[in-house]
Amino acid sequence: MSESKGSAAGDRKTQVSAHGETEGGTDSKKITLKVNGSYHEFVVGRDIDEADTLAYLLREQLGLTGLKVSCDEGACGACTIIMNGEAVLSCMILAVEADGHDILTIEGLASNDPVVEAFAEQSEPGYGTALQCGYCTPGFVMAVKALLAQNPQPTSEEIKGALSGNICRCGCYAAIAKAVVHAAEKIGRRR
Ligand code: FES
Ligand code: FES
Repeated sequence: MSESKGSAAGDRKTQVSAHGETEGGTDSKKITLKVNGSYHEFVVGRDIDEADTLAYLLREQLGLTGLKVSCDEGACGACTIIMNGEAVLSCMILAVEADGHDILTIEGLASNDPVVEAFAEQSEPGYGTALQCGYCTPGFVMAVKALLAQNPQPTSEEIKGALSGNICRCGCYAAIAKAVVHAAEKIGRRR
């Protein structure tokens, strides 16, 4: 990897080396990802395995732990990120499949991002709450970012449809829908 690695990455390197796949060996295919505006290069067989998911790479190699891995099988939406403008489930994409793609995680959003603000405000008394434990929130925020980029004034049915793959175990769905409406209003006012 082109960036310095943490202990988890170091462990992985040791593990991979134990299988004889070392830097400069036969499995030295490189992949490059643009993540939150910065380019990162990884050597397959050294930094990552062919079978590693994009969620693994983002969390364990780049330390972008905003996305959560809950079901790890495409059923909950907690790992949602944006790839090339589309909301995708990072647990269902291999890291090698993301080669050359443009990735946005919740860490890449500005603190005054209208969707971030709307979710934060929706946790204030009197608003109902769009987040309790917050485990699902990064996935919802990224799904909403992608939705509003493509459809700035979604109907309630369109909101339900766009977020149907995201599960909130705390049951905050009604307030999450309100947060989407407020985020759309903020985006409209900032135009
Ligand atoms: S962790 Fe990816 S969809 Fe649940
Ligand atoms: S706020 Fe707890 S899972 Fe959604």
